Amino acid sequence: MKLGAITLQNSVCLATAPWELDGPGYERLGAIFTKTVTMEPRPGLPGDEGILQVADQTLLNRTDLRVEGAELLVHEHLPRLRRFGVPVFVSITAPGVPGFRKIARYLEREAGEQLAGLEVYIAAPHSSAGSEITPRFVREATEAVRTELRADAAVIVKLPPWPDHIRGLALGAQEGGATALAATNTLKVLHLPAGPPAAPLVGGLSGEALRPLALRCVWELANDPQLRLPIFGAGGIFTLRDVEDYLRVGAHAVQVASGEWLSPGLSARLASEVAHQMPAAR
Ligand SMILES: Cc1cc2nc3c(=O)[nH]c(=O)nc-3n(C[C@H](O)[C@H](O)[C@H](O)COP(=O)(O)O)c2cc1C
Repeated sequence: MKLGAITLQNSVCLATAPWELDGPGYERLGAIFTKTVTMEPRPGLPGDEGILQVADQTLLNRTDLRVEGAELLVHEHLPRLRRFGVPVFVSITAPGVPGFRKIARYLEREAGEQLAGLEVYIAAPHSSAGSEITPRFVREATEAVRTELRADAAVIVKLPPWPDHIRGLALGAQEGGATALAATNTLKVLHLPAGPPAAPLVGGLSGEALRPLALRCVWELANDPQLRLPIFGAGGIFTLRDVEDYLRVGAHAVQVASGEWLSPGLSARLASEVAHQMPAAR
């Protein structure tokens, strides 16, 4: 897969890479995408408390998880993730367009040469003000990030799993200068834990239960005559068959998150299988 100036060696990528990533085979991946960082760290639950398995191969990623700041990423996490020798894309988010501009400018200045590009996590802008995710917001956020990066860095815009709306959001990303799309992020859900009544948990659903929705989103994007951007498919990828399904509906590459969380090393194993059994898809 070509992403502007970058060619990915494999169609399997790791999404939401653990900061302590270690083990064999990750050098075969197409790329590593980091967990999302914000300009300032956001306190919250550590991953082992905030991520729950709610059904078979299906996770709930709680909304109140801790988020690392950009400074720690640059000084501690990025060098560790880069040692696998594959392109690293840093996932960023911000509450509004100026925030996206600020973090992109900081990362370009402090770590520009170490980054293959940025992944723009489109989350609700100014959520406390009730603003919504619109094509215009996506275009402006993408444009702000694009403008701050060197020309050969990729800007990948990661969208929510909304089949009825994803096309408009993707067109916004394309107009804003995105290099590629990623579909999809987690689905906002509410989970009532089993047992005695407890507070409902809000968070993002991922894994097996998300796959049909994410496949539909990829298909909507891949079949739109106005959209020309390559697509990373994400949602419930556990097997080679899942990778093939995403490529069949129009993805150019895939990202694995829940599968890696449930079975560390899965993304590396899938990348190896793709290299051996689907050489054309590398
Ligand atoms: C444990 C966990 C943490 C995640 N953290 C992030 C994140 O920090 N930023 C982001 O954009 N997506 C995050 N995601 C979403 C994944 O990158 C992916 O888009 C989504 O989960 C669908 O893929 P999956 O079904 O393989 O998990 C996370 C998912 C999981 C399971």
